Amino acid sequence: KRLAVIIGGRSSEHEVSLVSGASVIEAIDTDKYDVKIIVISKEGEWLLVPDVETVKSGAWKESKVKAVISPDTKDKALLVFNEDGKVEKLTLDVVFPVLHGLYGEDGTIQGLFEMAGIPYVGCGVIASAVGMDKWYTKEVVHTTGIRQARFVPVYRNELSDMDKVVEKIEKAYPYPYFVKPSNAGSSKGVSKASDREGLKKALTLAAEHDRKILVEETIVGRELECAVLGGYDAKASGIGEILPAAEFYDFDAKYNNAESKTVISPTLPEGKTEEIRSAAVKIFKALDGYGLSRVDFFLEKDTNEVVFNEINTLPGFTAISMYPMLWNEQGIDKKALVEELISLALR
Ligand code: DAL
Ligand code: MG
Repeated sequence: KRLAVIIGGRSSEHEVSLVSGASVIEAIDTDKYDVKIIVISKEGEWLLVPDVETVKSGAWKESKVKAVISPDTKDKALLVFNEDGKVEKLTLDVVFPVLHGLYGEDGTIQGLFEMAGIPYVGCGVIASAVGMDKWYTKEVVHTTGIRQARFVPVYRNELSDMDKVVEKIEKAYPYPYFVKPSNAGSSKGVSKASDREGLKKALTLAAEHDRKILVEETIVGRELECAVLGGYDAKASGIGEILPAAEFYDFDAKYNNAESKTVISPTLPEGKTEEIRSAAVKIFKALDGYGLSRVDFFLEKDTNEVVFNEINTLPGFTAISMYPMLWNEQGIDKKALVEELISLALR
């Protein structure tokens, strides 16, 4: 079967996606699949690259061959624009997007696959779109009754009257707040505000990333993650814990700081592992998830309550990523995991 892996992408998580993507490509059974690799540049150009080495070395940037998915359902193909000007049609059986963040994890590219009629790995349009939008995720997860951090919603245009916005927030609950753009990944544009000046700065920063901003109450507690895999009978993995080196697990702490540690199967209070596993599946189903997701929680310090934080419908697949590590712990290594994800797409 012919499989196209699409990596990179236009989002702020472009670089992470290249690392996740290389890791996925290396785990694909090449006896079973004829793999075509497409890197989407930060500018949004689709380039066909010959192998994973080209991805890892950064040489993909020199590719002169464009390849795009035809939206025509009659083609079900990759259209390759060769250097000699010839266009080749390569029929595709399945696509594996290993893209994080906007234009990859948010339903936009999933919409293209739907248009093209080509099966693809992971969540569909709605689950991807809802999962990428923190505001909408809250609305949907609310239906499950699972606890989440409270938030004050702010639109970018409200910031023209900053004092009014600040007043609205300060009335809701006390500092510190987490200020987040509604749509963004890997904690880009997220900051913590401990006082009024900090809040204004945080709002301005978040507004650079999205027109919708969430100002959340701070939940103090342990950061726990759970992986979900499957179709309508999706299952949860064990639990992983993040021990951030920085004050919170921001972009730098995630990818540039070797001191951020992850623990698989941490010791938790009685019943909490099961509670989190069941909440992860419930949330995945509430969003109409399919294939995979990583669902992130807090275990609040003072109350020992499980608080939902966020869902990642295309979680990181790097060597330090929780999703593959959690399944490895369950006896599903990266090769088997990738194979399962592809076969779920083809089901
Ligand atoms: N958004 C990153 C890749 C993650 O959650 O794993
Ligand atoms: Mg994310």
